[in-house]
Amino acid sequence: MPQMPTAVKIVEVGPRDGLQNEPRSVPTSVKIALIDRLAATGLRAVEATAFVSPKWVPQMADNAEVMAGIHKRPGVSYPVLVPNMKGFEAAAAAGAEEIAVFGAASETFSRKNINCSIAESLERFAPVAEAARARGIKVRGYISCVVGCPYEGEIAPAAVAGVARALHAMGCYEVSLGDTIGTGTPGKVKRMIDAAAREVPRERLAAHFHDTYGQALANIYAALEEGVQIVDSSVAGLGGCPYATGASGNVATEDVLYMLDGLGVETGVDLEQVFEAGRFILAELGRPAASKTHVAMEAKRKVGS
Ligand code: HMG
Ligand code: MG
Repeated sequence: MPQMPTAVKIVEVGPRDGLQNEPRSVPTSVKIALIDRLAATGLRAVEATAFVSPKWVPQMADNAEVMAGIHKRPGVSYPVLVPNMKGFEAAAAAGAEEIAVFGAASETFSRKNINCSIAESLERFAPVAEAARARGIKVRGYISCVVGCPYEGEIAPAAVAGVARALHAMGCYEVSLGDTIGTGTPGKVKRMIDAAAREVPRERLAAHFHDTYGQALANIYAALEEGVQIVDSSVAGLGGCPYATGASGNVATEDVLYMLDGLGVETGVDLEQVFEAGRFILAELGRPAASKTHVAMEAKRKVGS
């Protein structure tokens, strides 16, 4: 039986997954300020941007400027998304020390998101992983639609396990399991993780859950029970995938931290500082928080003031 972890690594994806779907262009200076604020909270990984086609995701077009502007802290990793060799070369030139390739467990989603089949995507990622290894750049692997797909419906755990095996075999040091549209529930999540863990060591699997149906925290708890020790989350619950209509934000970092703190699970991340980073970006975007913890902390502050 897997053990509940005593410590969890949080991978903050707000500056990339959280902002990529924003309809209005977010100023580069705001993205840089957000990343710097998040990196000061104790987080060990802050996903900074994506080296994807600006025609597909215009919001990430300032990727090199973002990388040039951030103040890198020792001990913090700033992974960036890379779909192909063109993206890899640009990311490496911008000084990326960690990249993430991103595939899917659904054929249709793969086609809509990166314009190729799952098999073709893996063929594209292999030379990227190879080139990264040669330059000492770490590689993370994402799998989207691990429970459900907006086009194909339910996804079989075996499909997830197959892609997880391929990503791990090509050298991905972590494989992040994305419930991109947030349709998962704890039982399905457990079966999916169980299948993935037959191919990839549990300690290398990350839970990347979206909160569309309010299940993300329950799903994370289920993942922890399955021995998962890495959780992806987004400050203030920002986010949504441009190729997954209707998908709401990632689980909020504030909500995850509050739950893990209550469980006595160590993260090394300061909730108050993440809350402040959330206030900053919400004010910039003119949005309300998609985080119950954020809302509660805000209300408490108002009462206290
Ligand atoms: P394509 O159109 O098939 O690419 O797109 P292509 O190779 O035919 O090239 C077409 C044009 O794009 C060319 O330019 C290339 O130079 C350019 P043109 O000659 O027309 O001027 N191009 C690039 N430009 C910049 N950077 C690059 C790049 N590659 C080609 N890397 C491609 C294929 C993969 C490029 C495209 O589909 C793409 O960029 N997709 C990205 C979609 C994306 O970023 N989605 C969101 C991230 S995934 C996600 O959010 C899910 C996740 O969070 C997990 C979860 O939530 O579950 C990870
Ligand atoms: Mg996501």
